[in-house]
Amino acid sequence: MSEELPPANDDAEGGTDEPIADGGSVDDVALDPWGSSTVADYRKLFEEFGIEEFDDLLADVPSPHYLMRRGVIFGHRDYRPVAEAMRDGEPFAALSGFMPTGDPHIGHKLVFDELIWHQQQGGDAYGLIADLEANAARGLSWDEIDEHARNYLLSLLALGFDPEAGTLYRQSENIDVQNLAFELGAKARFSEFQGIYGFDGETSVSHMQSVVTQMADILYPQLEEPKPTVIPVGPDQDPHVRLARDLAARTRYFKVTEAYASFELDDDERALVRRAYEALSTDDDVRSEAAAAWLRESELESPARESTIETLEAGGKEPLRPRVRFFDRNATDGAFEALIEAIDGEKRVYEGHIDSFELDREAAEELAREIELDHGGYGFIAPSSIYHRFMSGLTGGKMSSSIPASHISLLDDPEDGYEKVRAATTGGRETAEAQRELGGEADDCPVYELYAYLLANDDDEFAAQVYEECVGGERLCGDCKEQAAELMRAFLEEHHEKREEARELLEELDIRMESSRA
Ligand code: TRP
Ligand code: SF4
Repeated sequence: MSEELPPANDDAEGGTDEPIADGGSVDDVALDPWGSSTVADYRKLFEEFGIEEFDDLLADVPSPHYLMRRGVIFGHRDYRPVAEAMRDGEPFAALSGFMPTGDPHIGHKLVFDELIWHQQQGGDAYGLIADLEANAARGLSWDEIDEHARNYLLSLLALGFDPEAGTLYRQSENIDVQNLAFELGAKARFSEFQGIYGFDGETSVSHMQSVVTQMADILYPQLEEPKPTVIPVGPDQDPHVRLARDLAARTRYFKVTEAYASFELDDDERALVRRAYEALSTDDDVRSEAAAAWLRESELESPARESTIETLEAGGKEPLRPRVRFFDRNATDGAFEALIEAIDGEKRVYEGHIDSFELDREAAEELAREIELDHGGYGFIAPSSIYHRFMSGLTGGKMSSSIPASHISLLDDPEDGYEKVRAATTGGRETAEAQRELGGEADDCPVYELYAYLLANDDDEFAAQVYEECVGGERLCGDCKEQAAELMRAFLEEHHEKREEARELLEELDIRMESSRA
C-alpha cells in the first residue's frame, strides 16, 4: 500500500485543474457554497474556474431538457460521459442534495426537474436531504430540519420523482454514506479545506464533517459499481464538485498516465516531449538526447521548456518509446501483482509503477479499474456536474429567501404567487409608447425569466413568442405580467394538489421524517 497523499489538487483522471480560490476573492464571481449565491458574470466561470460551456455539448445530448435548450443550464464539468451513457443505454446516475433551511422555492424546482429528467432518461436518480449540513453549517434545530425536509421531499415527489425507481435519503440516516465519508476524510487535509472553503481555527469540526459527507453523497451512486454520475447544482457548489473529483481519484488503486522513456514528466513537459517525438518519429528509435536537441532548436515556448530539455539530456541514449504507465497509488500487493499478470504484451515493472508498451490509454484505464474492482477497490469514475443560472429576484436584485416578495416559494398560496408576479419589476420601458417603439428588455426581465425557466414549460415556441413579442414592442408589461401571474397561479394550484397526493407516497417510503435527535 502506498501511504502518501498526492498534492491537494491532484485532479481526477489526469486533468490539470488549478485549486479554486476561496469564494469571495475573485471579482464579482462568488463560488462560496455557504455564502450568497450570485454570479455577476458567467463567462468568468469558464475562464477562471474551468467550467465548460454547456452549449458545446448540447448537440450530443439525446433529447435535451428545455433548461438545457434555453441556456438556463449553462455550464458543466465533464458531462460528456453521462451524455454518452444516456445515448448508449449504459448505466448512469444523477444525484443532488438539498439543505433543508427554508421552504423549497422555484430555484430548487430547477434541480428537482433536472433530477427527474435524468431519471426519465434511464438514470438512477438520487435526492438527498442534507440535514447534517443544515445542522452543522447553518445551525438549524432538528425540528426545523424535519419540517423543511418533508416539504422538499413532497415537492420533489409532486413534480414527478419516482421513489420506486430512485433513491431518497437523509444524510443523518444513511450509514453507508457516513462510512464512505469517513474513508474519504482520510484522503482530505485541513489545509486544503482552508484553501477551498476558507475554513480556519474557528470552524467547527461538524462543519468539516458535513463536507466529507457531501463528498460521500456525490460518490454514493457508485458504491455498487462505478458509473458516470451527474450532480445538477448551482455553480456555488462547484468547489464541492472539484474536491469530490479529486478525492475520487485519490482513492484509486492506480493512476494511469502516458509516458516517454523511464523518467517522469509533468503534463506540460509531456506535451513538449510529445511534440519532439512526433517530429522525429520517422526514426525508429527516437533517443532522449535527440529530442533534447530538437527542442533546443525549436521555437516552442513553454514554462516547462528548460526542465524538459534537462530531463531529456539526462536521459542520454535511452529511447523515448511511448508507453502507458500505471502508478501504484493505493493498490494492495495482490492488486499490483494481478495487474502485472494482466498486462498483455511487452511491459516493464518498476518499484512503484508498471510501463506497458502495447496498451493504449483507454484500454489501460479500463484494465486498471477492473483489477481495482476485483481487489476490493471502488474504481470511482470522476463525478460530473451541470450548472444552472440563478434566477433574478422578482423585486430586482437577487432572489433571496429572506425577502419573500423576491421569490416564489413552492408553498406560496396560489393567490400570493399571482400577486407577487403582478408586482414584479420588469425589463419594460417608462411608457407604453416607448415600449412600442423600442421593445422591452426581455434579457433583463425577471418576468421573462419566469416564462423561460418555468412557465413555458417544454413549449419552446411559446417561450420564443413571448421573447419576440417583448423585444419587438408588441407585448406590454401589464398584459405580460397578467398572463405570467395566471400561469403561476395555475402552476401553484396544481403543484399543491400533487403535493397532497404525494403525502401518502411519502409515508410509505423507508425514510424517517422525525429525527431521533433533539
Ligand atoms: N451543499 C448543498 C447545498 O448547500 C447540499 C448537498 C449536500 C449536496 N450533499 C450534496 C448537493 C450532494 C449536491 C450533491 O445545497
Ligand atoms: Fe418583461 Fe413581459 Fe415586460 Fe417584456 S413585456 S419586459 S417580458 S414583463
